[in-house]
Amino acid sequence: MTQALRLGIAGLGTVGVGVVRIVRRQAALLHARTGRPIEIVAVSARDPNKDRGVSLSEYAWETDPVALANRDDIDVFVELMGGENGPAKASVEAALSSGKDVVTANKALLAIHGQDLAEKAEASGRVIRFEAAVAGGIPVIKALTEGLAGNDITRVMGVMNGTCNYILTRMQAQELGYNALFDECAQLGYLEADPNLDVGGIDAAHKLALLSSIAFGTKPNFDGIEIEGIQQISLDDIHQAADMGYRIKLLGVAQRTARGLEQRMQPCLVPSDSPLGQLEGGTNMVVIEGDAVEQVVLRGPGAGEGPTASAVMGDVCDLARGLQIPTFGRPAASLEEATPARTGLPAPYYLRLALLDKPGALAKVAAILGDAGVSIDRMRQYAHSENTAPVLIVTHKTTRTTLDHALEGLHATDVVSGEPVALRIEQV
Ligand code: NAP
Ligand code: HSE
Repeated sequence: MTQALRLGIAGLGTVGVGVVRIVRRQAALLHARTGRPIEIVAVSARDPNKDRGVSLSEYAWETDPVALANRDDIDVFVELMGGENGPAKASVEAALSSGKDVVTANKALLAIHGQDLAEKAEASGRVIRFEAAVAGGIPVIKALTEGLAGNDITRVMGVMNGTCNYILTRMQAQELGYNALFDECAQLGYLEADPNLDVGGIDAAHKLALLSSIAFGTKPNFDGIEIEGIQQISLDDIHQAADMGYRIKLLGVAQRTARGLEQRMQPCLVPSDSPLGQLEGGTNMVVIEGDAVEQVVLRGPGAGEGPTASAVMGDVCDLARGLQIPTFGRPAASLEEATPARTGLPAPYYLRLALLDKPGALAKVAAILGDAGVSIDRMRQYAHSENTAPVLIVTHKTTRTTLDHALEGLHATDVVSGEPVALRIEQV
């Protein structure tokens, strides 16, 4: 009889429980597809007494995930705890050095320590698989490393955080505030243990760093990403964007330019009728452009128990079939150091500022923009309340550097209250 592939699972939260459910429910299907049984041998989490809604009694329990990783009776260590350091890093390292392959959903760990871990894996003749780390249930890592391996990839972009997309689309549809939406995201199992990683754009930037590495053959370079979260987006911005034919999305873009690797994760306005503009709820979308294929668009659920566990199991099945691919699609030693470049391509920008009720205030704003070299395409001022009026401006194409110069001027003037909001308008 063919030997079973034996799993040790560390982390029995949203994703871990989802994986246990699939292994139990689909045992026959998994065996038929991979040619061998897939079994869970041992599990680990913090609280052995928690009711997780699934039977764990037939699996050995390890309180320490490093002890689980070191067990002789597992072939694959499945890391589903999260966190860029601590037990996740220690146990993945232990698994690799004790001869196990690793499957993880942990984008933070790989975005920060991916190069080092990839080198460790190769030195031990093992592999690290991480389909679930990027865009939940969408098989985007497989698409980039395998299906599109014959392409020179020119650009990768997309919406990669289910929580942010859920919040932004529900704000628009239901006029709901942040807090209520947070609770809904928690119920759906979308949130990171620290939800600031979600709304601060950091989680999505971790994912972009991983995609960039595979796409452009560079070491994961999280520090080179320009990151902005969605915390500053107000219902006013959402309404005004809709009024002008746009939706606000937390959009990630990575592209190789003559100046280096541009990577940015920030809220942008995209046309309402574009595929990205129409993306609702926790759905993710990744757009990949290559010299031969031109453009591929992948869309699907970006978070939650079922979709994320589905991606973990895709990796487990590949290991059961004996598929060995280097972590970032090529040997770790051949990955180049990325040269980060600040976003250089000009784009129109949406600006919102609170204008004080003073004679000549609007003229001062126009002069500051003009002096900085920013040209106004459209402008609208709303009624004053409590001595300020919202002013919305859409600029003609300008570079971020030029715009930042104008923003400094607006910040310094005595006619603008608070920080202006500036969002790039992306033609996608
Ligand atoms: P979660 O629900 O918070 O579960 C985390 C699990 O890890 C819990 O079972 C927890 O134990 C266990 N754990 C934490 N620290 C531990 C330690 N020191 N020793 C042993 N076990 C420990 O998290 P999740 O949502 O399943 O996410 C897990 C990973 O998948 C993260 O890397 C996350 O970024 C990634 N991911 C999640 C999603 C999603 O939709 N949720 C999607 C894609 C990727 P207790 O239960 O006993 O507290
Ligand atoms: N917190 C993440 C999200 C989970 O909302 O997309 C999936 O990575």
